[in-house]
Amino acid sequence: MRRRTFLHQMSAAAVVPWLAGASRDLADLRRSLASTPDEADFWKEVRSQFLLRPGLVHMNSATIGATPRPVVSAFTDFLWEVESNPQEEVFGAAGEQRMEDVRARGAAFLAADLDEVALTRNTTEGMNHVAQGLVLQPGDEILSTDHEHPGGSVCWEWLAERTGAEIVRIPMPATAPSADQVVDLVKQHLTPRTRVCSFSHVSTITGLVMPMAAIAEVTRPRDVLLACDGAQAPGMLSVDVHALGVDTYASSSHKWMLAPKGSGLLYIRKEAQERVRPLTLRSGFHVYSASGGTRSVAGILAHGVAMDFHDTIGRDKVEARCRALRRTLREALADVEGVKILTPEEEDLCGGILTISLLRGDAGKVRATLANDYDVVLKRGSAQYNAIRISTHIFNDESDIERAASALSEVMRKT
Ligand SMILES: Cc1ncc(COP(=O)(O)O)c(C=O)c1O
Repeated sequence: MRRRTFLHQMSAAAVVPWLAGASRDLADLRRSLASTPDEADFWKEVRSQFLLRPGLVHMNSATIGATPRPVVSAFTDFLWEVESNPQEEVFGAAGEQRMEDVRARGAAFLAADLDEVALTRNTTEGMNHVAQGLVLQPGDEILSTDHEHPGGSVCWEWLAERTGAEIVRIPMPATAPSADQVVDLVKQHLTPRTRVCSFSHVSTITGLVMPMAAIAEVTRPRDVLLACDGAQAPGMLSVDVHALGVDTYASSSHKWMLAPKGSGLLYIRKEAQERVRPLTLRSGFHVYSASGGTRSVAGILAHGVAMDFHDTIGRDKVEARCRALRRTLREALADVEGVKILTPEEEDLCGGILTISLLRGDAGKVRATLANDYDVVLKRGSAQYNAIRISTHIFNDESDIERAASALSEVMRKT
């Protein structure tokens, strides 16, 4: 009998073991990974946890992740559980505590304190909360780059329009030469009017990992708020927001963290909370509050299970695997005709994203051919570079890389 059918048939009086199904799934996974010392078998077992259609190569976690079976099962179980007693599960003490436990796991995932982290739906929402929670004056400057995603930049355009502040965009190199040169670029564009710096932790365009800690050393003494768009990091890189030195950090858990679609985290450093006062957090960072309102309980609880899934595998292992696959991909693409790699080669400047620029043909058409004729899903990247962006995650393996590289090579030969 399927677990959810079983739950549905339980009487209202029966004790529903909260999280029991998810804990069991993850305990099974933990046991089987522990008894799999061979590296290749280990990742094969991890790969078997995903529901991706056989034959499909999904290498676009930077847009949207694939949620693994234990998280999907937990999500559907939670839906049934919540509907067994909506009032209690949504507003009762136990129900609220379970959501607060997820917030605590979110704080731990970012290595932040509990009173610094809120659960959101995505990065865009988190960035909007930050921008809407700030007071700026005409002539104040918001320093950003020309490599930001709209989800991390529209909020600043809105704020500039409303306040008369100005946005200054650093022209970023296609391939950043070194961390020092990136920090120098930031320094060169700071002025006495700069109030905010807003940068992506990992660039959606080139996969560059911004040297945030070094940038914070420049912004903090000047009292410039350092806002970080972290859409592309948690679940790919081990993130420690205190070590990064950022004042705010907004992320999407449905990308690399592999959580249900519509889940995210927002960090606001304690010392920055007087300056950044989002309306939605006015009555506290709790999942449910008077200013935040009612939430999707099942989605939030499954968000917690996604974090547990990462911990079951080991976050360092996840990061190392994403990086190792990206290195393999880089090698596989080195000799493909008409392709130039934009992502920096230095390990500290990249993670699980590899962006290539196509020197001929149209990246949009190439992407579509790869999806339609080869079942290989990549992302059409920035038009500025006629780019294709490729993500390497734990559900990918060497065979995916081989398929993607040979498909791309074939398409480029014909282009
Ligand atoms: C750097 C960056 N910021 C923000 C977003 C928007 O993410 P979401 O739609 O989850 O808010 C993305 C999405 O790809 C992104 O790459």
